[in-house]
Amino acid sequence: MIGGLLGYHWAFSEAIEMQDSVLIQIAGLVQGGSLTGGRALHGVDLDAEVWLIDQATAPQASEDDARLWSLKDGLALAVRNGQPIRVLLRTRADGARFAVAQRTSVRDEIASDMAFRTVLPIAALIPCLLLVTAIVIARSLRPMVHLAGDLDGRRADDMTLLPTAQMPSELHPFIASINGLLQRMRLLMDQQRRFVAEAAHELRTPITALSLQAENLAAVDLPSSARDRVGSLRQGIGRTRHLLEQLLALARQDAGQADAVAMPVVRLDDVAKEVVAGLLPEAASRGIDLGFVLVEPAVVRSEAVMPAALLRNLLDNALRFTSQGGRIDAWVYRDGDAAILQIEDSGPGVAPEEIGRIFEPFFRGQHQEGDGVGLGLSIVKRIVDRLGGSVEVANMTEGGRTGLRVLVKLPAATA
Ligand SMILES: Nc1ncnc2c1ncn2[C@@H]1O[C@H](COP(=O)(O)OP(=O)(O)OP(=O)(O)O)[C@@H](O)[C@H]1O
Ligand SMILES: [Mg+2]
Repeated sequence: MIGGLLGYHWAFSEAIEMQDSVLIQIAGLVQGGSLTGGRALHGVDLDAEVWLIDQATAPQASEDDARLWSLKDGLALAVRNGQPIRVLLRTRADGARFAVAQRTSVRDEIASDMAFRTVLPIAALIPCLLLVTAIVIARSLRPMVHLAGDLDGRRADDMTLLPTAQMPSELHPFIASINGLLQRMRLLMDQQRRFVAEAAHELRTPITALSLQAENLAAVDLPSSARDRVGSLRQGIGRTRHLLEQLLALARQDAGQADAVAMPVVRLDDVAKEVVAGLLPEAASRGIDLGFVLVEPAVVRSEAVMPAALLRNLLDNALRFTSQGGRIDAWVYRDGDAAILQIEDSGPGVAPEEIGRIFEPFFRGQHQEGDGVGLGLSIVKRIVDRLGGSVEVANMTEGGRTGLRVLVKLPAATA
């Protein structure tokens, strides 16, 4: 804007100076005798309206004329017929004076016209330049936007390095820094996981020893007051063992690298039958009807222990939250490319405000039955993620019944 105004101003002054030099050239011609006065010099430029006035022939009636001829030779501003003019006065060799004049309004009009034509192309170019600049910036920032999208869409623990291939070289140092940070974070997370796993592992032996001692104590003939204390001691040790087992299971899932293709194939239906069979005595002792509604052959690629750990945690919850006389139904089947595992219980279900949090480690909702530590569903989620599947949890409300439905979908493999 300022540039445009300055450009206009300069071009305007230039045009005014050019018109002065035209007046000087005409005066030169007149002095040389090539032109004689009292008329408009249309030969110069029809629009320019340059007049040659001889003092000898021009009428000198008005005050304006008297003032004009009183001026000294040279360029000056004057007034003629009530209009401002630019005038160049000269004296011929014989002493006769003449003036070459041009109306100021005409001069200004010509100058502003010229100045406008000088500035116009630049003014027209500016929006084009802005548009081109915006396009170039948007194009060069596109890889950055892709990178940001990639990072935003990641799981919190996904530390895969960013690719530098097909990225503009200006971005390489930036990508290298982000990758360095990702690597350091991966190292830190690995260290933490290893610490938790090792701590849990180290604690396992003394807890097993304690638990054995408690068992031995239970076999001893004790007064009933001491027997109660031994009972709560064994319960506490059992809870601690369960916590350690869950921590170890979670650490094991966290430490493993997800590479489902390299994993062996596992029969989900066989694993399910085994796990359910193992839990039948407990279910029977509490009068819970645990069984399959459907078991079809379904195969997944997985480490051998993963489907069992997944099922055990889900069925453990179902058993824990289902009261005496309730029922637990299980399904294993194939649906297109997915191996489906579904479990329904007749417990109280999960409070709607808690359902979004139950996969968080150590989260235990308002129903805190038994020795839970809040890690079971975190282990389930971790396993499902590593196998490239999904898990959904919903409260069942159909027909006035209550209970939780858990639906696990895993990519089916070919046997
Ligand atoms: N079948 C269910 N019915 C009702 N509530 C459930 C059920 N399954 C899970 N929950 C709720 O979700 C919470 C988290 O479950 P999760 O399995 O992660 O932990 P936990 O069972 O308390 O402990 P852990 O499994 O580590 O022994 C539970 O404390 C409970 O409040
Ligand atoms: Mg649990």
